[in-house]
Amino acid sequence: MNAESKLSMLAPAFDVERVRRDFPILSQSVHGKKLVFLDSAASAQKPRAVIDAMTHAMETQYANVHRGLHWMSERTSDAYEGVRDKVAGLLNAPSREEIVFTGSSTGAINLVAHSYGRGILKPGQAVVVSEMEHHANIVPWQMLRDAHGIELRVLPITEAGELEMAALPGLLADGRVGLVAVTHMSNVLGTYNPVSRIAQLAHEAGALLLVDGSQAVVHRAVDVQALGADFYVFTGHKLYGPTGIGVLWARMALLDAMPPFMGGGDMISSVSFERSSWAKPPSKFEAGTPAILEAIGLGAAIDYVQAIGMDAISAHEAELTDHALSRLSAIEGLQVIGRAQDRGGVVSFTLEGAHAHDVATLLDRNGIAVRAGQHCAEPLIRRLGLTSTTRASFGIYTTREEIDFLADTLVRVKGFFQ
Ligand code: ALA
Repeated sequence: MNAESKLSMLAPAFDVERVRRDFPILSQSVHGKKLVFLDSAASAQKPRAVIDAMTHAMETQYANVHRGLHWMSERTSDAYEGVRDKVAGLLNAPSREEIVFTGSSTGAINLVAHSYGRGILKPGQAVVVSEMEHHANIVPWQMLRDAHGIELRVLPITEAGELEMAALPGLLADGRVGLVAVTHMSNVLGTYNPVSRIAQLAHEAGALLLVDGSQAVVHRAVDVQALGADFYVFTGHKLYGPTGIGVLWARMALLDAMPPFMGGGDMISSVSFERSSWAKPPSKFEAGTPAILEAIGLGAAIDYVQAIGMDAISAHEAELTDHALSRLSAIEGLQVIGRAQDRGGVVSFTLEGAHAHDVATLLDRNGIAVRAGQHCAEPLIRRLGLTSTTRASFGIYTTREEIDFLADTLVRVKGFFQ
């Protein structure tokens, strides 16, 4: 066997048509047209494996977790706790006990803002966020600022839509920053941020780093240890899993030191009317009946993407993104927003003379689903001097032909407005 064939055997095999057959919804028509779903950054579609895992759990073993001594509860507790191992594997977390289930990325960031923010940060300290954050990584810190006397500092972006890294040392220089909170990948610009470098600078200044992996975890393998992050959050529904389940990973020393966020069943070790004591992490942060079925669905989604392979997925999406950038940039009057060197499968654009909502509506009439507006990132859209963009976002099931159809349809949409 020559070196080339050996290499091709090692290269991850990816068959998009086979993947598409795993997603029942994709065979639908919309407005009499074949569905072209280009809105995965908002929420991804679900493979049969996820749908079946949740249905199977409900049909065969469903009960509450950690509470019953009966067979059903034990089986469901094992399934729920098993997902913690899968998430730890997905993120290369040092310990399964460092995985906290939340309702969403937003829930995870709010947990950190309340628990670490109010419990450990001191009034007068600062939190740095970037100009490209979506609202979930801005508003909880603003609320912390207003409730707890924390200063909010903003790391600007460049004209290309990358972080202005040269400004970060200045923002950290006075040693008052307790936390830097940045997205791993922008949901508007597609930019992947240099998280390891940010971690290094933050740590040198005595600050911790929270990374919002809502978009990034879907497109590439993530290794929280290699990134050097202190907190990493993501959500299940963008990773082909269900809504209602999110993840917070944090180093155990932090989880140990942080006070609980919500009180209730399962997060205690003992309760009396005088005082209660807390369970160890992760239970300390999982008050009440958790999102059991949703966690099981997330576990199936992780198995699904890992069986395909994150490297194969990212190679497929990188090829699609390059193709989309070249096809869309060639349309006169269409401006792609964001020219980052390192980017994932999200392409935002404006079309001269047409409002993003009108563009999205006309695309929808052709069966193409995109998102239009501010993408829950109003400060970023304002910084870009815009009021809205149209955004096409790609997933594991997106094809080159769908991108060609988007580009061809946009040419017709442009003609309509002219
Ligand atoms: N942050 C999600 C999006 O980008 C909701 O659409």
